Amino acid sequence: MSGPPLAGGWRIWLRLARAATEACAEAADALAAGAEDVAVPEALFEARGLSKSYVVGEVVVTALANVDLDLFRGELVVLLGPSGSGKSTLLNILGGLDVPTHGSVRFLHHDLTNAGEEALTRFRREHVGFVFQFYNLIPSLTARENVALVTEIATRSMPPGEALGLVGLADRLDHFPAQLSGGEQQRVAIARAVAKRPDVLLCDEPTGALDCETGKRVLEVLARANEELGTTTAVITHNAAIAAMADRVVRMRSGTITGVQVNERRVSPSELEW
Ligand SMILES: Nc1ncnc2c1ncn2[C@@H]1O[C@H](COP(=O)(O)OP(=O)(O)O)[C@@H](O)[C@H]1O
Ligand SMILES: [Mg+2]
Repeated sequence: MSGPPLAGGWRIWLRLARAATEACAEAADALAAGAEDVAVPEALFEARGLSKSYVVGEVVVTALANVDLDLFRGELVVLLGPSGSGKSTLLNILGGLDVPTHGSVRFLHHDLTNAGEEALTRFRREHVGFVFQFYNLIPSLTARENVALVTEIATRSMPPGEALGLVGLADRLDHFPAQLSGGEQQRVAIARAVAKRPDVLLCDEPTGALDCETGKRVLEVLARANEELGTTTAVITHNAAIAAMADRVVRMRSGTITGVQVNERRVSPSELEW
């Protein structure tokens, strides 16, 4: 089938969906007329009816309650919600770090919910890059060596120097973490996560420990990796200002999704203010 590249295709599709949900039939028709061959976006993840409860002593904590979510290939999604709303629980389940109490997750039509530990380990190693609030770098290894730890065991990886170049650290290859600022360490962590060319990059409060300017630099790197590598990216934050950099914003509260918004255009992280 000829047509627009998939990443562009789903953006058009999302605009169509948005026009339709806003009951703007005319707008949808106009968009459809302009987009001759609209590719239906490929859902990388399909989560259905996800619930997660924890029993702590005599108390049952509901971290997620009946959540449905698709992540489409190539998009950048911001998961926005206050502390305790279930964002990390959802991301950890998508990334195969945790399993739901109820519900299912499919990754490219593979059922993750009933996959064994071995299959989940392979899934994480081959398909998922994680970025956390704290960088989790090994202090006794240089930036290049920290990235190489991952690229040596992954099959489709790029050279560590290339990944560090992508995050703007080509001149810091032989620095140890202690010789790098917090923002630079987080960029090494992003290089480590994208170097294996994962299908999806899952970022849990990646700017949570950084000041505004440094945080924006880190978000720029995430946006760039999404654009240049086409990596589907989910960014968790409690900071509403960050939502503007996304293709879609998924809002969470009390373990549920309260709304999904499609941004007409993505704002460059350098233009964000908080
Ligand atoms: N391992 C756990 N044991 C018990 N309760 C947990 C655990 N993990 C998360 N929770 C609870 O689940 C809720 C959602 O947590 P979380 O997903 O971490 O939220 P967020 O990332 O939005 O801050 C919170 O009320 C939290 O206290
Ligand atoms: Mg969290």
